[in-house]
Amino acid sequence: MFSAATYSQRRSTLLQQLAAEGARGIVFMPGNEEVPLNYRDNTYHFRQDSTFLYFFGHDQADLNGTVDLDTGESALWGDDPSMDDIIWTGPKPDLEARAERCGCTAGGTNSALSAALQAAQKAGRTIHFLPPYRLATACWLAHCTGEHFNTTLSECGWGLRDKASLPLIRSVVAQRSVKGIEEIAEMEKALGISYAMYAKAMELARPGLGERCIAAALDSTVALGGAHNSFTTICSVRGEVLHNHDYSHTMHQGDLLLIDSGAESDLHYASDITRTLPVGGLFSSRQKDVYALVLDAQQTAIRMAAPGIAYRDCHMAAVTSLADGLRAMGLLRGNVEDIVHNGAHALFMPHGLGHMLGLDVHDMEHLGEDHVGYDAAHTRSDQFGLRSLRFARELFPGLTLTVEPGCYFIPALMDKWKAEKICREFIDFDALEHFRDFGGIRIEDDILITATGSRVLGRPIPKTPEGIEARMHARC
Ligand code: GLY
Ligand code: MN
Ligand code: MN
Repeated sequence: MFSAATYSQRRSTLLQQLAAEGARGIVFMPGNEEVPLNYRDNTYHFRQDSTFLYFFGHDQADLNGTVDLDTGESALWGDDPSMDDIIWTGPKPDLEARAERCGCTAGGTNSALSAALQAAQKAGRTIHFLPPYRLATACWLAHCTGEHFNTTLSECGWGLRDKASLPLIRSVVAQRSVKGIEEIAEMEKALGISYAMYAKAMELARPGLGERCIAAALDSTVALGGAHNSFTTICSVRGEVLHNHDYSHTMHQGDLLLIDSGAESDLHYASDITRTLPVGGLFSSRQKDVYALVLDAQQTAIRMAAPGIAYRDCHMAAVTSLADGLRAMGLLRGNVEDIVHNGAHALFMPHGLGHMLGLDVHDMEHLGEDHVGYDAAHTRSDQFGLRSLRFARELFPGLTLTVEPGCYFIPALMDKWKAEKICREFIDFDALEHFRDFGGIRIEDDILITATGSRVLGRPIPKTPEGIEARMHARC
């Protein structure tokens, strides 16, 4: 955990922000429960709720936090370990000790909390909560706020997402969007593990091995680093499938292996890195040509990222660079501004440039992607490709984001666009046929917006074709 003062300071900033919005009542921040594999004794790996971690720090199930907006008091709630808990899962600090560790008072047991919140609700006080993303949390919220208890499961659960507090969502997003020095240090630790993961992959990726050998090596590097993955590893020679979790292929000479992976630091800050490797250690000249376009697009966006620049403009600059390159290769034709305006480039890059990164790999997106990445000045496009941009608004110092352009040849999408004559004035579908089996290339790094521009976080992982080839040969 960070110091108790860090959590006190964070809650005090939250209080000030909510006071400025005129909010009254009680902020209720439930921590996560264990998710059982069967009734009780075996559970999935526990992951604490990120907002609870941010404001109360404790990485332990069945705790809850409150911030009283009228008295300014914060409290931690939870049940002290029973003898059964101690026997089965070992001794744990009691609530008093935990409350002191995060700089607040000990409120009481979880049943005392639900009684207190139900009484507050009956007395007409507002209970502010964030949209739940786990059904168990939704049911717990429903129980504590009284409103939907004993009604249908959907009303008890997901119906509560619509009743979440907008002032709280806005305040939490504003606060968690600006990363402090200690948070950046955590992300750099996660990136240290990412460096080791890609070093291992570059050492091992060779013809005849299965994708799962590399995926296992990546995941074991995370485990040996004492960490957990920040999301399920993508490791596939079918890189055109954007979030491919299948590891069933054997790698062949000349394949491109796309690896998108990340780790969490001890305090659960994420890294998120993608590299595309030539199986056997050497890119073909055609692979190098496409790779160069993706790298140019990424570098264009990174150079441009700075306070006051909208990330949507970085996205547009990246896809314009990509489209220009694809035009030079003869796959696109016409004026590059028209190509991009009409969205023809999205055949090759149907996703956005990147997303916020932090305690969640897609930071806070469960609070509502538009609350995180859009605002009154930047509304979401409905154009294919651009509509998948997760973060569009203006950049500011302290923001951490991914920059992850890609170029993919997706046979089903190519066939659909050709059959439906979508953007046919801009696309040479005959030339494209030669790329049907190409796969996909993505390059992803994590950046911090500084006072004057941006900085790529972490120890540099080889990413030029020459750098990757040199690293792979050095290891072969
Ligand atoms: N790892 C998923 C992503 O890059 O967004
Ligand atoms: Mn990624
Ligand atoms: Mn990403």
